[in-house]
Amino acid sequence: MRTPIVAGNWKLNKTISEAVELVTALRDLVANVTDVEIVVAPTFTALSAVARALQGSNIRLSAQNIFWEDSGAFTGEISPVMLKDVGCDYVIIGHSERRQYFGETNESVNRKVKAALTHGLKPIICVGERLEDREAGKTKSVVENHVINGIDGLSAEQLLSTVIAYEPVWAIGTGITATPNEAQEVHAFIRSLLLRNYSADVTEQIRIQCGGSVKPDNAVELLTQADIDGALVGGASLEAESFAQIVKAGSG
Ligand code: PGA
Repeated sequence: MRTPIVAGNWKLNKTISEAVELVTALRDLVANVTDVEIVVAPTFTALSAVARALQGSNIRLSAQNIFWEDSGAFTGEISPVMLKDVGCDYVIIGHSERRQYFGETNESVNRKVKAALTHGLKPIICVGERLEDREAGKTKSVVENHVINGIDGLSAEQLLSTVIAYEPVWAIGTGITATPNEAQEVHAFIRSLLLRNYSADVTEQIRIQCGGSVKPDNAVELLTQADIDGALVGGASLEAESFAQIVKAGSG
């Protein structure tokens, strides 16, 4: 039985005080949820204050990016050691916005995934096709490429600490969602890909989140699909009430 994981990707939003206000409201709203893992991913500047505001709660902290070196002459980067130090358990890696605007590649994703795991951070690896890929019938080949290269070289134990987020790029921030059937089909495909290199037992335990315009009103039908194990939520995670509703959609 997989515990669903619902994560809020705040992207480039919220000052420190706004971030603390949001999680302070959220922690009360989800205090009774015990069967969903709840994660928030603020900006780097808010991580420390949010970590303090979340102490003693059931909400875990994630970063939105990471660099693979521990320290050194890498101006502007943040290391796995620093993310552990500030209290992160998770880190989002390979989000489509990073692939599109910041030159993230499958190779850099894989290096970041390995660095995160080495330091006890759990990667949330984002994969997903663009609209033109889908229209050209390339959804599965693009997703396969992202998944296989993203997890390349991971042991079964490392894979078990990893979450995969399937987010079709055309659904992110657009209000257009993959239908539950479309999403389920790709999630099942991703699980079948993992079977190539890992046992059925391991493959059954991996959590695969859906993402792309997940909202309170579509969350239940998405999160009840057989291979959908939670959601990575952008816009709807910026408001405590709507994010709490999505968390509860993943609950028992
Ligand atoms: P969205 O973003 O929910 O605003 O579509 C999801 C994401 O990019 O992770």
